[in-house]
Amino acid sequence: MQKISKENGSVFCGKEAWATFNSKLSELDPSKVFVITDTHTKQHCTSNFQKNYSYSITPCFLEMPAGESNKTIEQCIPLWESLSELGADRHSVCINLGGGVVTDLGGFVASTFKRGIAFINIPTSLLAMVDAAVGGKNGVDLGYLKNQVGVIRDPLFTLVDIEFLTTLPEQELISGYAEVLKHGLIHSKEYWEEAIEIDFSNEVLMERLVWGSIKIKNQVVTKDPLEKGLRKTLNFGHTLGHAIESFCLQHEGRKALLHGEAVAIGIILACYLSAERHQYPKSLLREVCETIQKHFATPTFSKSEIQEIIDLLAFDKKNDRGNVCFVFLSDFGNHIIDCKVPTEEIWNAFEFYNKLKS
Ligand SMILES: NC(=O)c1ccc[n+]([C@@H]2O[C@H](COP(=O)([O-])OP(=O)(O)OC[C@H]3O[C@@H](n4cnc5c(N)ncnc54)[C@H](O)[C@@H]3O)[C@@H](O)[C@H]2O)c1
Repeated sequence: MQKISKENGSVFCGKEAWATFNSKLSELDPSKVFVITDTHTKQHCTSNFQKNYSYSITPCFLEMPAGESNKTIEQCIPLWESLSELGADRHSVCINLGGGVVTDLGGFVASTFKRGIAFINIPTSLLAMVDAAVGGKNGVDLGYLKNQVGVIRDPLFTLVDIEFLTTLPEQELISGYAEVLKHGLIHSKEYWEEAIEIDFSNEVLMERLVWGSIKIKNQVVTKDPLEKGLRKTLNFGHTLGHAIESFCLQHEGRKALLHGEAVAIGIILACYLSAERHQYPKSLLREVCETIQKHFATPTFSKSEIQEIIDLLAFDKKNDRGNVCFVFLSDFGNHIIDCKVPTEEIWNAFEFYNKLKS
């Protein structure tokens, strides 16, 4: 078993992690156990969970509808009500069994119910394994604006079992891969090279890669849990990525982009701006564009759409006194944080991106 041990927020990875999961539950001795799933993870992930769960208390399953459009405060209410009706108290524990939507929202529900009960994350999507379930950020969207309401609070621990990935739709797997690529760019050439050699069907390689990403994310959040500096590097590609994701959520006519798909576009834009402003190697910019184009759809945006995306930057939660803050790179692992960018440079980045297709 691979593990990162901390007082809160430990991560256990591998089949043997289930034994640790069960013994940690016994140590905790909770009054009740609740499992929050969404419609898909209820269907696809509960059998692996039940097979491995051996604690004496029968868990109570609570379900929310699947999808980013349900990561809302409205969806928290029935969960809080169920916890209350089913007698959850401050010694109960919530297990979030799902992708990033379930771990973000479930962590928020647990962190606010009776001013905070314990929770455990069991991520079932690649994106949640390598990113969302680690680091203690929990929350919900406000309308189509991403992650506007939330808290930073660690799970008791996170259990990662890549067997869950066997039922994950391929497009969701690729979406999670965007965060793996981001980890490579912000961390090291070695991890980037490992990441671009990905073989989604090779379990050994996948577990290695998932664990590599978890270690990178953990290193960053341990050094800077409250995002004063270093943690901002995890937002590489996310400033424009989130605005693009919000734009697509807002426009039902426009094909919705998954979180990772929007982030992949954001990474191209951030690498372009890094090259323009901070001598990021052009050869690496090319390699990033080729890698992303190989795996992700890269839809173009019209002038009016770009304007709307730029307008959405005003709502980014990382903004400082009205200024949009970007993270750029000058090379692998060399970050420049809190960068302010004139709007015309963002337009240039979109022009570069739109031309990639031709
Ligand atoms: N808290 C953080 O630090 C952090 C970091 C990155 C992303 N996020 C958030 O994570 C969310 C995206 O996460 P996601 O991509 O996992 O989305 P998601 O939770 O919506 O999961 C994607 C889809 O896959 C389904 N699914 C999940 N696991 C499955 C499985 N094993 N088998 C079959 N279906 C499965 C889900 O039901 C859903 O339909 C976004 O809301 C994003 O803001 C949070």
